Amino acid sequence: MIRVIINGASGAMGTILAGVIAKTEDMEVVAGVALEGDYYRRLEEYQGPADIVIDFSHHNGTVDLMDYCVSRGLPAVVCTTGQTDEELEYIAKAAETIPVFRSANMSVGVALTAKLVREAAAKFGPCDVEIVEIHHNRKVDAPSGTAIMLADAVREARPELHYNLGRSGMAKRQPDEIGISAVRMGNIVGTHEVMFGTNTQTITITHQAHDRALFADGAVTAARFLTGKPAGLYNMDDLLAD
Ligand SMILES: NC(=O)c1ccc[n+]([C@@H]2O[C@H](COP(=O)([O-])OP(=O)(O)OC[C@H]3O[C@@H](n4cnc5c(N)ncnc54)[C@H](O)[C@@H]3O)[C@@H](O)[C@H]2O)c1
Repeated sequence: MIRVIINGASGAMGTILAGVIAKTEDMEVVAGVALEGDYYRRLEEYQGPADIVIDFSHHNGTVDLMDYCVSRGLPAVVCTTGQTDEELEYIAKAAETIPVFRSANMSVGVALTAKLVREAAAKFGPCDVEIVEIHHNRKVDAPSGTAIMLADAVREARPELHYNLGRSGMAKRQPDEIGISAVRMGNIVGTHEVMFGTNTQTITITHQAHDRALFADGAVTAARFLTGKPAGLYNMDDLLAD
């Protein structure tokens, strides 16, 4: 049984994660930490048995999180985003002592999609590449970070391409661009389509998120992956290569 401490237990993702772990046979939650609710206020207040910390909190707690995990020799799955360069360095330093998994997108499906996109971009040859992302009408930023991540995956194979974020007016397609379009409607969790087209055929690689629980599923998979690993900084590429 993998005993999990959830950092950020009262939050949207912490709550979803607790629900996912409750249905996971080889894992249990032994403690939760949050700034509000019926949880420990700080990680160091809990010194009971534990095997791993899964973090969906706020990046300003990075130093506390890493100090706690290093002092107890606990692996950490860092799902929190928005770390400063200094905080990222602190995580890298801690990973010299403990195993740390960090990914700004914990969906295994998105990581696999990026891998497929990278392969298609490398092997399909000259073609037009377009990305369409669709999200709910409450999303404030466009394009999505995931759309940029997928465009970056294309550019690994075709670095000559640059991004065209949303065409309008006199905007004839240029051969050296990746068009990125954002659609906002209803309650859609997140859809990303990457299209590779020539005059004779089109390949479309699509990822559809149905539920934010996909991030918690990924955190559980990462926690399992990290268990028993030596110290180091791991990410989704390591998990997919395993
Ligand atoms: N990597 C991914 O795939 C992924 C997916 C979803 C969310 N996230 C990230 O996870 C984080 C949490 O997201 P959310 O939507 O659940 O946020 P939220 O605001 O709903 O919850 C934040 C939680 O963290 C707690 N918290 C805040 N500061 C803390 C600190 N210093 N120490 C301990 N706990 C602290 C809060 O009390 C709360 O429980 C964000 O950084 C978000 O971007 C990452």
